[in-house]
Amino acid sequence: MEIIILKDAEKVAATGAELVAELLRVSPAAVLGLATGSTQLALYRKLVESCRAGAISFKRATAFNLDEYLGVTPDNPQSYRAYMRRELFDHVDIDPGRTFLPECGAGQNPVLVGPDYEKKIAAAGGIDLQVLGIGVNGHIGFNEPSSSLNSRTRVKTLTRQTVEDNSRLFSAEEFQPRLAVTMGIATIMDARRILMLATGANKADAVARMAEGPVTAMCPASILQMHERVTVLLDEAAASGLENRDYYDWTHQQNESLKARFGRSHDV
Ligand code: F6R
Repeated sequence: MEIIILKDAEKVAATGAELVAELLRVSPAAVLGLATGSTQLALYRKLVESCRAGAISFKRATAFNLDEYLGVTPDNPQSYRAYMRRELFDHVDIDPGRTFLPECGAGQNPVLVGPDYEKKIAAAGGIDLQVLGIGVNGHIGFNEPSSSLNSRTRVKTLTRQTVEDNSRLFSAEEFQPRLAVTMGIATIMDARRILMLATGANKADAVARMAEGPVTAMCPASILQMHERVTVLLDEAAASGLENRDYYDWTHQQNESLKARFGRSHDV
């Protein structure tokens, strides 16, 4: 796991956007795995700016989102489809026909959405780069604590805490979903590269458990310790619970100098 601690959330977004941009420049037809949530807002703003400036293009790219609420139609402003359109898809040159979320249409059996989504990901050749955020409870996607580490896309019940964390986004009279369809942990682990962004002091404990705790279903993000190519971008606040901090900074310095000399770091 490559852990990079940056000055603030702005720098986290800029560094994350640069990584995505690098991939799109090298592989214009890349398959991106995308996340929603507040952490990613600044990342998407940067990507929109780059695309508008002509520095990157999504024309040949494909996007698969991690999750979507159940019982919320794509045209509902609370849906993750609406979030993605608002924050990214409607402002870049991506082909809307190549943007996928694990959506459950009216009358569709939600149990069948997961296997179908897995087939679509496989048909696209798998995910090149999966962007992730982390929940306060260590979830990735909506794989809540105790999710099978071997799970694939399926319906999940959100924890009371996740419902509470997201309640700020719903008005009192609005329906707030308690179920979602989410990529599974094994689906996420299949991505060739993973980019995790975490900012803010409320993520410090989850980040420490992810990077330095035991691999356990009680902290789903801890499975990332088993992935070959993970980059974690943190601001100071999110990094504040890490014990091994000095080593991460030291490694980052070495990686930067390797990159300057050979154009590639040794990463993880
Ligand atoms: C969103 C998702 C979630 C979020 C996580 C952090 O698609 O899958 O795992 O990444 O809940 O959310 P924020 O960034 O709002 O703190």
